[in-house]
Amino acid sequence: LSKIEIKLSDIPEGKNMTFKWRGKPLFVRHRTEKEIATEVAVNIAELRDPQHDKDRVINPRWVIVLGVCTHLGCVPIANAGDFGGYYCPCHGSHYDASGRIRKGPAPLNLEVPYYEFPDDDTVIVG
Ligand code: FES
Repeated sequence: LSKIEIKLSDIPEGKNMTFKWRGKPLFVRHRTEKEIATEVAVNIAELRDPQHDKDRVINPRWVIVLGVCTHLGCVPIANAGDFGGYYCPCHGSHYDASGRIRKGPAPLNLEVPYYEFPDDDTVIVG
């Protein structure tokens, strides 16, 4: 299937759920207010792949990214690593709760796919 529809109320605040989409892992993360505040405040001049949090989300409560490390393609672990977002155990890449690379060998942020919210409880990715 080229599109996936996900019911957002199934994902509690503070949790990341993994789906399979186009043969790849897809992360849907329900961020806390604290995570949102932290990521919005990051100085993008310090980032390897500079992107403001607001340019990576449509609704700040939801981070939707491919679960594919931009180093060599392993699947990162959610809610782990030095920046509280994702940690890739293959070679030690740390991503923040916006999916941005912060430390380790990966060159780029986790990829944000095309998605839309047809209503308050649904996201369609693809
Ligand atoms: Fe993730 Fe190398 S594949 S750090």
